[in-house]
Amino acid sequence: MFDRRRFLQALAALGVSHSMRVHAQPRPRFEHDPFSLGVASGYPQPGGMVLWTRLAGDFGPVEIPVRWEVAADEAMRRIVAKGEDLARPDWAHSVHVEPRGLRPDRWYWYRFRAGNAVSPIGRTRTAPAAQAVAPRLRFAFASCQHYEQGYYTSYRHMVADDPDLILFLGDYIYESNLRRNQVRLHERAEEPVTVEEYRARYALYKADKDLQSAHHACPWLATWDDHEVDNDYANDRQEDGAPPEEFLLRRAAAYRAYYEHMPLPARMRPNGPAMQIYGSWAWGSLASIHLLDGRQYRSPHACPRKAGGGNEVDPRQCAELQVPSRTMLGETQETWIDRQLAGSRTAWNIIAQPVLMAQRKSGPEGAKTVWTDSWDGYPAARRRFLESVATRRPANPVVISGDVHMHFAADLKLDFDDPASTVVASEFVGTAITSPPGGWVKNLPAVLAENPHLKYANGDRRGYVRASISGKRLTAEMMGVETVKKPESNVEVLARFVVEDGKPGPQHA
Ligand SMILES: [Fe+2]
Repeated sequence: MFDRRRFLQALAALGVSHSMRVHAQPRPRFEHDPFSLGVASGYPQPGGMVLWTRLAGDFGPVEIPVRWEVAADEAMRRIVAKGEDLARPDWAHSVHVEPRGLRPDRWYWYRFRAGNAVSPIGRTRTAPAAQAVAPRLRFAFASCQHYEQGYYTSYRHMVADDPDLILFLGDYIYESNLRRNQVRLHERAEEPVTVEEYRARYALYKADKDLQSAHHACPWLATWDDHEVDNDYANDRQEDGAPPEEFLLRRAAAYRAYYEHMPLPARMRPNGPAMQIYGSWAWGSLASIHLLDGRQYRSPHACPRKAGGGNEVDPRQCAELQVPSRTMLGETQETWIDRQLAGSRTAWNIIAQPVLMAQRKSGPEGAKTVWTDSWDGYPAARRRFLESVATRRPANPVVISGDVHMHFAADLKLDFDDPASTVVASEFVGTAITSPPGGWVKNLPAVLAENPHLKYANGDRRGYVRASISGKRLTAEMMGVETVKKPESNVEVLARFVVEDGKPGPQHA
């Protein structure tokens, strides 16, 4: 719910850089550790990556110089790059540094210094050179880490797996409160609206030591879903029907705080409510990772229950669902991904995006419904995307997704209602780090029976997916922790799948 007073506060907060008198504080002495939010790295390239930190504390309108160092060894003895940047108050004293000229395909270590304080040491790495034949890529993917719903025990196991890369597929924070089964609480019960409120929410999540350890272990790539802003938002539309011009201010505040807390390149810095986070990254000639934004540009939900937002609808009762102009990615991003798929020369193509792409149509015969917040709500756009995959023929397309808080493995087909329709790509969906699945988890056996392209589902466990690509094969292991309601818990491999070179569709292994 939006109210006028908070709307004006949000507006004032976004204007902070224009009205503030900033002065420099070259050698501050900190009373509290300014590096309590940890460090992070992301978006590895052959010659560098992004290094991030944010100074935690209330410093007022003061610019603070932050020095950074990259070393070839864990003890930080052989420094190979260093520099200084300013932590500025209008960006919440965050720092995004992009060292260049590093060697491809190797691990590095980094840290920051400000005043009398030194940050923890993070480990990061560069990608292999563009044409290099990389023998393998090991990565994990994760999504949906509601702070109140559980502990981030999965990250401890993920760090032990020693991946080259962690991909995060959305819901890094939650704006909302489920009001049940909490193991710990948000800093406030109300939803954030202003940039200060989103910053406070990120600061709470970022203070978690398990999450920090996953950021300290390797570089991340990330896309977002809805909860980084508001449940089930679509472009400028809010579920409860706030006027678009008001919602865009909230979105601007949320996007700004997202940028301030993630290891994102400077070119992604938001401009008001606009922030381009989609893009492609290559791992030598082995793999391309195409990250998609499924929220910022999508059409409003078809046949919503409230003013907007997802709904369970019978496609025959909702003509709007089939309107060809309805889009999930927006025209610009749709054209861009088509070109990326056409131009890709890598042996594998990972398409990382937030929501379930495979059809999930279920219910009694004659009254089957779909959930409109996922790709099922945008069938024409899904068809265009999968036709682009089928005609551009990028090598080994594999879609990875989050959002549903359950594990899935699926065949992606041009026509899910036709059993003879060919499989054009594979999809793996990772369960949540902590967030609980929706009520339909109880109907999973029926959902599997009604949707034969869904080859596997498990809604019992929270966890992540551990994946590796080596030459002719991608392996995906569905990892599940015993519980997220205790700070420590064992993990097990619930299921293992492979995708063989040239054969779309996950196979049990
Ligand atoms: Fe989620």
